[in-house]
Amino acid sequence: SVNSELVFYINGKKIVEKNADPEEMLLAYLHWSVNACLQPICSLHGAAVVTIEGIGSTKTKLHPVQEHIAKAHGSQCWFCTPGMVMSMYTLLRNNPQPTMEDIRETLGGNLCRCTGYRPIIDGFKTFCDTRISCQNGDGNGKCCMENSNSHNYESDISGELFSMDEVLPLDPTQDLIFPPELLIM
Ligand code: FES
Repeated sequence: SVNSELVFYINGKKIVEKNADPEEMLLAYLHWSVNACLQPICSLHGAAVVTIEGIGSTKTKLHPVQEHIAKAHGSQCWFCTPGMVMSMYTLLRNNPQPTMEDIRETLGGNLCRCTGYRPIIDGFKTFCDTRISCQNGDGNGKCCMENSNSHNYESDISGELFSMDEVLPLDPTQDLIFPPELLIM
């Protein structure tokens, strides 16, 4: 019957599975994604899944999160990169002007076996809004972690890894919308 069908979306493409294996995890289904290893596919009924391929690519247009982590050399062996990018992407969709604390918290569950956290954070801290002060900022438009008065270990990071003039701006029209069909399911 129709009720036994599993319906969800991956990167805007509708998936209908008639005989989904209740024990199959999303990871096996997708072959690649970090949190997908814990997600039974049957829990996805009515859900819209977005993977790193869904937010941008070198063939179409890179998403700024992908571009910044690459330019900051935050992608070493690449194993953790999709998870790092998707965690940061999710944070930005919920909070376009995150603080360094937000970024650190967001990446709390993402492990990098190359222990290359510094360049990853360097790439992502560029999304900290520098036009407004963070809550702990100095009022001069600096991100709180860039505040020269703070004695935070982040303050010695060079901000010149790459020029912000040469990167793509955040473009909300690039984001997939939630499929309207799923709203009435
Ligand atoms: Fe190798 Fe993070 S870049 S696991």
